[in-house]
Amino acid sequence: MDIREVVKKLDSYIPGISEDEIAKEFNLDKNKIIKLGSNESPWGSSKKAIEAIKKNLNQLNRYPETNLEDLKKLIADYSNTKVENVIVGGDGADEIIDILAKTFIEKGDEFIAPIPTYTYYEFSLKPYEAVPIYAKWNLNANSLNLSSILESITNKTKIIFLCSPNNPTGGIIPKKDIVKILKETNALIVVDEAYIEYSDSDNVDLIDKYPNICILRTMSKALGLAGLRIGYGLSNPKIIEFMSRVKPVFSLTRPSYIGALETFKDNKFIEESITKGIESRDYLYNELSKIPKLIVFKSKSNFILVNIEKTGLKAVELSEKLLKKGVIIRDCSSFQGLDEYWIRISIGTLEDDKKFIFILKDVLLD
Ligand SMILES: Cc1ncc(COP(=O)(O)O)c(C=O)c1O
Repeated sequence: MDIREVVKKLDSYIPGISEDEIAKEFNLDKNKIIKLGSNESPWGSSKKAIEAIKKNLNQLNRYPETNLEDLKKLIADYSNTKVENVIVGGDGADEIIDILAKTFIEKGDEFIAPIPTYTYYEFSLKPYEAVPIYAKWNLNANSLNLSSILESITNKTKIIFLCSPNNPTGGIIPKKDIVKILKETNALIVVDEAYIEYSDSDNVDLIDKYPNICILRTMSKALGLAGLRIGYGLSNPKIIEFMSRVKPVFSLTRPSYIGALETFKDNKFIEESITKGIESRDYLYNELSKIPKLIVFKSKSNFILVNIEKTGLKAVELSEKLLKKGVIIRDCSSFQGLDEYWIRISIGTLEDDKKFIFILKDVLLD
């Protein structure tokens, strides 16, 4: 049995912690846990989507739809683009990243990512023996260091990942910077807009103007369907057609498909989820900013990055103290480009946000 050498050298992905794990480890009531660790929506899913899924549960013995034209049409309308620009993934936007790797990467190709950024890019491309080239995100200004991207481009660059709003910093990449990069290279520019709904930046118009852009989006965040794993890519029809050739055929399950259709039709749910998300983010930003010793980052997303070095605690220590009190946050020590003093806090219901701020203050006084 020969495992590929590249796979033997890989580290496992470190996801946010689940409520079940914490409840078990710290002997807590699962229902009382405050989960602010994985950038999910705390307001559940569209009731219409849940009802429609329930009605169709007697179909689980059948394979899912593979013709997703009606879903693509809803996505195209929602995103202000055309059906032929859309590809749907059944393991979220992560699946679209995997499809991009399968479509574009040859052994030894380079990909550029400004760090800190979303860690799945590297996780997905490394098994294809791609070489990560780290550019810079300026933490002081919470903005992309454009020249670090331009200087990193070589004739081996295949993909450049630009996450906007950037996870974990919450900053936006201005359209003019994206355009500058698009003009500078033939490499594929992947603009990850997983958190687009919480910001006012949108780069879909660039698809018709440049042949080398792919935009990533997801239903896991503002649309409240993280558990169903639905993501989509937006690009020109030529790239979409090549990607479709290597896409897992049945990855979008039947319940996910039905849930996605109904959610896109439920405008009221979507609008409320976004409004409440922004409210929660702004509340958390204001309250965290009042706590001495924390450096709090302005965010255009559904999470907030915080530097805690002046508290004297490392992220792993603060996370553990909070876990014992039933609060899950994200220790960012595993993000390339951040040291051991950074945490990320996701939006919660206002009630949970208030409890969290109270518990955090208490823990910091200890
Ligand atoms: C920047 C970014 N892109 C993509 C994803 C993946 O989302 P999905 O749940 O659709 O796989 C995430 C998830 O946290 C993310 O933060």
